[in-house]
Amino acid sequence: MEATTAAPKKRILSCIQPSGIPTLGNYLGALKNWKTLADEFDGAFAVADLHAITVRQEPAQFRKQINDVLALLLAIGLDPDQSILFIQSQVPAHSQLAWILNCYTQFGEMSRMTQFKDKSQSHADNVNVGLFAYPVLMAADILLYQADLVPVGADQKQHLEIARDIAQRFNTLYSPTFTVPEPYIGKQGARVMSLQDPLKKMSKSDPNPKSYISVFDAPDVISKKIKSAVTDSEGSVRFADGKEGINNLMGIYACCTGLTNEQIEADFAGKGYGDFKAAVAEAVIEELRPIRERYERYSNDKAYLKEVAAQGAERASRVANRTLQKVMKKIGFVLP
Ligand code: TRP
Repeated sequence: MEATTAAPKKRILSCIQPSGIPTLGNYLGALKNWKTLADEFDGAFAVADLHAITVRQEPAQFRKQINDVLALLLAIGLDPDQSILFIQSQVPAHSQLAWILNCYTQFGEMSRMTQFKDKSQSHADNVNVGLFAYPVLMAADILLYQADLVPVGADQKQHLEIARDIAQRFNTLYSPTFTVPEPYIGKQGARVMSLQDPLKKMSKSDPNPKSYISVFDAPDVISKKIKSAVTDSEGSVRFADGKEGINNLMGIYACCTGLTNEQIEADFAGKGYGDFKAAVAEAVIEELRPIRERYERYSNDKAYLKEVAAQGAERASRVANRTLQKVMKKIGFVLP
């Protein structure tokens, strides 16, 4: 009875680039929620390695990072039997659909992408066509799986908008082919800022390693970085304008402990920043400890990672190829 009345779960898709070890910001802002999403929806999660080569990668390091990010997906609790976990480049349909969609996307639309404009300034020596067409590959990722929902942070909103435009355009030009994806605005993850300049987002590409905490930093490293975080001279733990350093640490602490700002202010009334920083460091260490431990187990088990990737690629290909075939047929390609 239940089987006929229950609506099918919505599909949610998200990808993470294997370009360096994710930070505490990536974790608290996005990854921490993926396990919940996997339980609530029909999830597909990928390591977006094709996206990562818009920047030059050192081969041995790149290979390690791809495996590490797959291990991290397992470490945050994603279950390869429940969700589709895969490596993007192992599913050729992504490259194939991306080429096709390039021909349904205008130069002018891509030129307006703010991330392209920013990145072409920061990597002025390598403004490649892949960097320009990056949002189309992302649209292919999403549309291949007929994803209903895509969790997006502020920096990816414009890219999801383009994916929607491309889907709608194709559907109108031919006939309904793609699900038009919606942004998934979940429980507000923390927007974690740099520990050295709390007006900037925490970023793993920051030249100053003291500005970010990596999800695999050892406890003593985490303590040191938080101890040296920039604060202010007022000396009281409260959330207020002009206290961006403290606000950031409060946000991190709130996210790890589930406390509200009011509770934190009450707990630290009359105490100094030293005590507060020690508490924040402890909370972050405990938050990341199980992930680091599981990561160490998985990342050393290359055979298991290979098996997870192979199984994921097979399941992903089944879904993706169905969409790709539909698209190719509508355009008029001669199918084998
Ligand atoms: N561009 C995304 C990022 O840098 C990663 C990504 C690639 C992605 N393909 C995606 C995210 C599809 C969501 C859906 O964060």
